[in-house]
Amino acid sequence: MASCSSFNFLLEFWLCIIIIGLSDNGHAQLDATFYDDSCPELVSIVNAGMKQAIGRESRLAASILRNYFHDCFVSGCDASILLDGKDSEKFAFPNLNTARGFEVIDDIKKDVEEACPKTVSCADILSIATREGVREMQGPSWELKFGRKDSLEPKQEMANNGLPGPSSTLGNLKEGFGEKGFTPTDVTALSGAHTIEKNKKECPFEGGDFNVAQLDQTTPLVFDNQYYKNLMERRVLLDSDQVLFSNDTQDDLVTTYSKDQDAFFKDFAQAMVKLSNLSPLTGDQGEIRTNCRSSNSEPEQPLTD
Ligand code: HEM
Repeated sequence: MASCSSFNFLLEFWLCIIIIGLSDNGHAQLDATFYDDSCPELVSIVNAGMKQAIGRESRLAASILRNYFHDCFVSGCDASILLDGKDSEKFAFPNLNTARGFEVIDDIKKDVEEACPKTVSCADILSIATREGVREMQGPSWELKFGRKDSLEPKQEMANNGLPGPSSTLGNLKEGFGEKGFTPTDVTALSGAHTIEKNKKECPFEGGDFNVAQLDQTTPLVFDNQYYKNLMERRVLLDSDQVLFSNDTQDDLVTTYSKDQDAFFKDFAQAMVKLSNLSPLTGDQGEIRTNCRSSNSEPEQPLTD
């Protein structure tokens, strides 16, 4: 009797293992070595593309970084932001007339397709392009894993509702980022992305004024900790930035980052890894788009850039 029940236990155990194995098929893990055999030159192709783009206009590093945040924060890093069309995320309020630089990813994708046809997703290309852009602006680097698939459709409504607004309170930021597993430290470090480049603002939300001002008005071409010094001197443009230094819980961390760039870089890199791993499509989910602007089953959409 005893041997019969231990046999049943073993049988159930192995059945469980097999079922988990089967159901996990569509949710393969991201893997740092994913393209080692299928596209070994991938990172250098993306790096060359970013170097070329930044040589043309350094702001493009910032624009790609912002696109990546707006992609990953809305239903994971699935390149849904790159899709064109009326229902696209490009027409969602947080992106409309501000998301830019899509042609950079088009150019890189073309080069990658030439070297490794139908192999590398737009989502992985955007992940690498973001990191290489930050590095080119003298910022930190971080480890990436690969194997993301591209979404089959955009998520415009989620982009409208899920991205933080410029008048967010500290409470709003903690809650919105917290829902996705980010700590207040992550939010404070990630906001340091505003250290680079330009913001079309006096106030784009109150109409009409398209003067170009800079989020970090001191060293906008360098990814550094100047943003935190500016926060302490109340010289930033967005309320959602200033709340990080407002006699509240994040003041000490802002002070630390303002004095210790390495501490900022370390936390920023860690938070970017977290961002890069947000609910990816893997395995048999999604697809590898041939053109980052349209799903493989769709006729190409008119360009909106
Ligand atoms: C915490 C909440 C955030 C809010 C409310 C916010 C809001 C904004 C706004 C309003 C702009 C100006 C857009 C324009 O008018 O051109 C901007 C620019 C930018 N944001 Fe954020 N942002 C946030 C967090 C982040 C994060 C987490 C990242 C990246 C990790 C990021 C990266 C950038 C970059 C790089 C730019 C400059 C883009 C360019 O020059 O093309 N932001 N952000």
